[in-house]
Amino acid sequence: PLVLHVLGARPNFVKAAPVVRALADLGVRQGIVHTGQHYDALMSDVFFADLGLPEPIANLGVGSGSHARQTAALLTGLEEVVLEHGPALVVVYGDVNSTLAAILVCAKLHIPTAHVEAGLRSFDRGMPEEVNRIVTDALSDILFATSPDALSYLANEGVDPARVHLVGNPMIDSLFSALDRLDPAPVRERLGLPERYGVATLHRPANVDDPASAKELVDAVLQVSERLPIVVPIHPRGRERLAAAGLVTGGNLLIVDPLGYVDFLSLVRGAALVVTDSGGVQEETTMLGVPCLTVRPNTERPITVTHGTNRLVTPALLPAAADKALADRAATPSGELPPLWDGKAGPRIARVIAAWLTGENLSP
Ligand code: UD1
Ligand code: UDP
Repeated sequence: PLVLHVLGARPNFVKAAPVVRALADLGVRQGIVHTGQHYDALMSDVFFADLGLPEPIANLGVGSGSHARQTAALLTGLEEVVLEHGPALVVVYGDVNSTLAAILVCAKLHIPTAHVEAGLRSFDRGMPEEVNRIVTDALSDILFATSPDALSYLANEGVDPARVHLVGNPMIDSLFSALDRLDPAPVRERLGLPERYGVATLHRPANVDDPASAKELVDAVLQVSERLPIVVPIHPRGRERLAAAGLVTGGNLLIVDPLGYVDFLSLVRGAALVVTDSGGVQEETTMLGVPCLTVRPNTERPITVTHGTNRLVTPALLPAAADKALADRAATPSGELPPLWDGKAGPRIARVIAAWLTGENLSP
């Protein structure tokens, strides 16, 4: 039996790598389908190299577009490739449009699916990702949860608990695997940063698509950069709009292209502070014990606030929150990680999949 992994965007690659590796260790036949949702070398190829992911067996090259156009291209492309390969199981990751499309295609073709990172909820349907999460979880046959709160959310939505497996966080597996390659000094020196610096990443549509929101956010980041130099590896989404709002290199602000996985996390590891609206970065800073200020009104990852270093802030409160985080740095908790964030989520997922493929009982 063949297992297909459908991957499209930067965070998918990070989450899939440990699952692919663990399935390979169990001798499971598998292939990666790259949808091409992310296509720039710095948004895609560099992750395959840094994470040791095998070459995709297909690249659909769907590229960018409105939600409808991109999803339509994903649906037609994925239907073809799934029919061609006839997988026993399709594994999808996270909450991006490639994930949504894959789950819809497989549901209609009666092909079993597994969702890695099931049950996260921001309860904000204004986020495209929240819509994708709800639909994906409703249609998945096997659901892999990264944190215990997911279990009650899924139960409340009527998902049979026998389908749900609490396995920990594969994004943290990837971080564990990369840990001894994470060295801030060379990246910092290459970028001309001093020893004390902050890192910011911004790409949520609610923050960057609207010029007024972008301006408010950029003004807040500029104020933080008066406290310490800030490097911003800029996601292509909103790059122009953020630049128009004043997010340009100068003074204490350094805008650079997106960084590869190892370079980015090296910088994060050595940072005094991270400002972000990313999902994954909230988790990675929690594991690395680096203070993280998330500029969003909500998070689908509350465990990073209760167990980790993450705080939610508005743009208006960001400068004061940065002062506090920098002052409290010595007191940052570094002990307890969320349950099962131990670097072994990939093997747990692989064991469930391998058992399922041989027809064993799925119950957790
Ligand atoms: C997508 C995900 C988001 C995730 C993010 C990770 C959806 C709905 N959103 O957002 O959840 O947090 O990926 O990074 O799936 N672009 C490039 N080069 C690329 C890819 C994109 O220039 O390689 C530009 C294009 O102008 C495109 C824009 O970025 O229009 C947005 O890309 P898209 O894949 O639609 O969504 P993201 O904002 O990247
Ligand atoms: N990341 C990276 N280079 C960057 C910014 C982020 O390698 O310049 C990594 C980050 O460490 C994490 C993943 O990309 O593993 C998260 O992707 P992103 O923030 O784009 O998506 P989200 O998690 O918000 O869906």
